[in-house]
Amino acid sequence: ASLREVGYTIRPLRRSDYSTGYLDCLRVLTTVGEPSRDSFNQQYDFISSRNDTYYILVICDSSSRVVGTGAVIVERKFIHNMGMVGHIEDIAVDKNQQGKKLGLRIIQALDYVAENVGCYKCILDCSEANEGFYVKCGFKRAGLEMAHYY
Ligand code: ACO
Repeated sequence: ASLREVGYTIRPLRRSDYSTGYLDCLRVLTTVGEPSRDSFNQQYDFISSRNDTYYILVICDSSSRVVGTGAVIVERKFIHNMGMVGHIEDIAVDKNQQGKKLGLRIIQALDYVAENVGCYKCILDCSEANEGFYVKCGFKRAGLEMAHYY
């Protein structure tokens, strides 16, 4: 069954998603803090002014609450003939909605965007615990994440 047939919709993030549970949805992923509406709006406006680079999608349930989200950021390179790479980030599905293929649908949609804007690949970092999910989404292990926190 399609997402819509089972009562879900998928769409780009909106400015009004400050009040539809978007930030709460992200809390399954990591700490979010308690951003004010103003700081949310500022960040949203920055991101939406770069709408050829940032693509943030949300899945809403039948009562229009955000229950899933994910992003792809398109990086432009000088290598690979001015190639573009999609960076998949911040995939989150509400705890009580996990296991219903919503995560898979988000990745499929982000992959579709990345391929259609001209990326030659999509990459992401994840924990070992999530490897199986991304393998089911068609990804394979490649490389090793390094981080330098400030
Ligand atoms: N390990 C192995 N397989 C998994 C896992 C896992 N951790 N999670 C899901 N799967 C499998 C499912 O069983 C399903 O398999 P099937 O097709 O054989 O039935 C398939 O992957 C698709 O699963 P979905 O139902 O689409 O997964 P879900 O909607 O629960 O979303 C997600 C998965 C996003 C990892 C969710 O559990 C979540 O939000 N977790 C907490 C936040 C998180 O860890 N996000 C990812 C961080 S990495 C990043 O953002 C780049």
